[in-house]
Amino acid sequence: MRSTFFVPALVAVVAALPAPAPQEIDLDLFLNIPTPTVIQATGTPDKIVTYDTKAILASATQVSSISVAVTDAASSTPSIVKRAACGPEPSGYGPVTTNPKDDAASFLANPVYANAANAATVPDGYVQTFKNLNASSSAYGYLGFTNLQSYSPQTCATKCNAIKGCMGINIYFERDPKITPDKTVCPNPASLTQIKCVYWGGPVTAANTKNYGRSWVSFSVVVAGSNGYVNQNIAAPSGYSDANYLGNAAINAPYDTLGYNTYMGAKVFAAGPFNATLCAEACNAQNVYNLANPPTDGSPVQTCQFFNTYILSVNGKTALGQYCAMYSASWTNKYATNVGQWQGNDRYTVGFSYSFSNLTNAGTTNVAAAVAQAKGEISASSLQSYCSTFLGYNDLNAYVTATSTKTPISTVTSTSTLKIKASSSSSSSSKATSLSKRAVASSSLATPTALTKYPGSVISSACSALVTSVPKTGTVTLSTATVTGATSRSTVVKTVTTTTR
Ligand SMILES: *[C@@H]1O[C@H](CO)[C@@H](O)[C@H](O)[C@H]1NC(C)=O
Ligand SMILES: *[C@@H]1O[C@H](CO)[C@@H](O)[C@H](O)[C@H]1NC(C)=O
Ligand SMILES: *[C@@H]1O[C@H](CO)[C@@H](O)[C@H](O)[C@H]1NC(C)=O
Repeated sequence: MRSTFFVPALVAVVAALPAPAPQEIDLDLFLNIPTPTVIQATGTPDKIVTYDTKAILASATQVSSISVAVTDAASSTPSIVKRAACGPEPSGYGPVTTNPKDDAASFLANPVYANAANAATVPDGYVQTFKNLNASSSAYGYLGFTNLQSYSPQTCATKCNAIKGCMGINIYFERDPKITPDKTVCPNPASLTQIKCVYWGGPVTAANTKNYGRSWVSFSVVVAGSNGYVNQNIAAPSGYSDANYLGNAAINAPYDTLGYNTYMGAKVFAAGPFNATLCAEACNAQNVYNLANPPTDGSPVQTCQFFNTYILSVNGKTALGQYCAMYSASWTNKYATNVGQWQGNDRYTVGFSYSFSNLTNAGTTNVAAAVAQAKGEISASSLQSYCSTFLGYNDLNAYVTATSTKTPISTVTSTSTLKIKASSSSSSSSKATSLSKRAVASSSLATPTALTKYPGSVISSACSALVTSVPKTGTVTLSTATVTGATSRSTVVKTVTTTTR
């Protein structure tokens, strides 16, 4: 009887399966991306910043060989006009504070700004994220700003709606100099008050609203009455369901009912506004690549049918980029349980999380894929001896094709009939010089931990497939055997094509 099992065709099937639960946020994807610096809304008002989405997509998805021409690059740098010393600054339309003094402390103590912020109504289609802070935001995807003539979140939102990719707004009063400060001539000029409306491509939250001001020569720029709003309408990418809002949590999918890992990895986009279509295109590109490069072992191609995309931030403040996690099956909100993770002293958090499913196929369970995955794990973990026991035989290599394997693992010997039938083709015949049959008590058949996620039918198919892969030649005999189970009688009808070398 053989005591070692040699299954040459399957040795290199699966090196390591990606861990499905938890789907750790892959922080390495951000390794080569510089941490964004705090953005001040300065420069020329109404210069709307645009981003080249094709370039963003191309750089984020290059590993999957997506070929996107990097063309029509748009200007992505706000032009900062150098102003003459003591020349005029843009007019401000907000109430100016001169009482008791024209300084930062008096400005911050003036209730007129808080009153305006507290009384403001929420713009249509927006949700308020904070009210009356003394700071401006530095969120993801800076898109520029406008100096308004009145403190109107609705006006600001209407302008945001017209800007491609605008997802959030920050409106506030800013104490600015009337003329451009100059070290020698006019270090601390009189103030004016701007009503700034700043556009962002990602969520504007209290956590990322920490710009309390700055010094400009001897002038103190400070902020009051700062309100934040986000637009929760995310356009569905073509071919996908409407956005499903997951709040501050990412999907953390378990194995599916067949034990299959539906997680397919992640991409990140670190420039431009939040854009769900970028993730949809990464998902589609991955499918094109996977279909063109099918697994060499003949197992089914895994395709992306569902994705979860969100903004990943570090330490509650700096948005690093848009994360895009891909799956071959859809998962409901119940599985949105990953609220972030720590790395060293840095806390990474999830925000603005949405999921989308393929409209025509949200992803279904795939027996062949689960069996292929199980086969890989059995080989990688050298569990062939378990297979032999599971199938009820001592000699793994002495067996043939299982055509009917519906028995659940826990009741393998006590329930239905396990039919194992040889194929008549010579390619799947096998050697059985010392075929011996054992009755296996279910209690004695402990499932290896790695295989507990699979139903018995999948284990059975995987085990049987491993056995049949041994190529054999020789004479053919037929035999039939019966086995008595632990709790009840069950019949194993096996028509074995045995061969002798
Ligand atoms: C803003 O500053 C003023 C003056 O220092 C202070 O009274 C107020 O509490 C501050 N508001 C917030 C939200 O921090
Ligand atoms: C989002 O990305 C898609 C695909 O690249 C692009 O066509 C679309 O214009 C982008 N939308 C925004 C708001 O940037
Ligand atoms: C949705 O899934 C089907 C089946 O896998 C695929 O043919 C189709 O291209 C997918 N749609 C999109 C938008 O990716």
